[in-house]
Amino acid sequence: MIQTFHVTKVYERGDRPALQDVSIEVEKGEFVFLTGPSGAGKSTLLKLLFVAEKPTRGQILVNGRNVATLRPSQIPLLRRQVGVVFQDFKLIGNQTVHENVAYALHVVGLPEREIRKRVYQVLKGVGLFHKANVLPPKLSGGEQQRVAIARALVNDPVLLLADEPTGNLDADITREIMTLLEEANARGTTVVVATHDQALIERYQKRVVHLKSGLVLEGR
Ligand SMILES: Nc1ncnc2c1ncn2[C@@H]1O[C@H](COP(=O)(O)OP(=O)(O)O)[C@@H](O)[C@H]1O
Ligand SMILES: [Mg+2]
Repeated sequence: MIQTFHVTKVYERGDRPALQDVSIEVEKGEFVFLTGPSGAGKSTLLKLLFVAEKPTRGQILVNGRNVATLRPSQIPLLRRQVGVVFQDFKLIGNQTVHENVAYALHVVGLPEREIRKRVYQVLKGVGLFHKANVLPPKLSGGEQQRVAIARALVNDPVLLLADEPTGNLDADITREIMTLLEEANARGTTVVVATHDQALIERYQKRVVHLKSGLVLEGR
């Protein structure tokens, strides 16, 4: 599902490479933790995978596509196949839960009835069917993250990338969020979770890719 070959990323204003010679592989159907201390390069690696950044050197295959050389016109198609979840949710505050989740389907141009059906289905999946018409700021942090996960899953992505998805949430809510990610994984979505939370990694026995100062320490 993911292969990176000797990937190096140097930001324009970075003093050292954010990633250096990173070669990793994630198989289809895997659930992998990407870990390492703050500044290790976790977010940068995820950004390269959903083409928010381009590598300085190296090749990256995501679902068989070389994303390092993707033409801008091909990026939307890839984005539809890859769901993304962030620590700070990144929901649109003045749009309802339903509208936040439906957005990606409107972009594809699905008929309104089909959109409504899919949005309700995915909201039911995260237990927020009853909050469809609420604005995100009215929700708790855990609920907002569940909406963000619904939004990431509504296109039935082959790959789900989550950057510190439980970073702002307490232990109970963290368990709920992890359950949702595991359920998506059980349905066939490959999942990569970036986290510096050692306790989380110990609780869930998944393969771990460990980064430090932009280098892969283990788990390639
Ligand atoms: N947009 C940017 N411009 C310059 N440097 C950046 C940028 N984003 C991240 N960095 C640097 O790249 C390194 C890796 O950061 P990041 O990928 O955010 O690590 P992590 O997610 O593991 O904390 C850090 O040294 C960080 O300061
Ligand atoms: Mg980060």
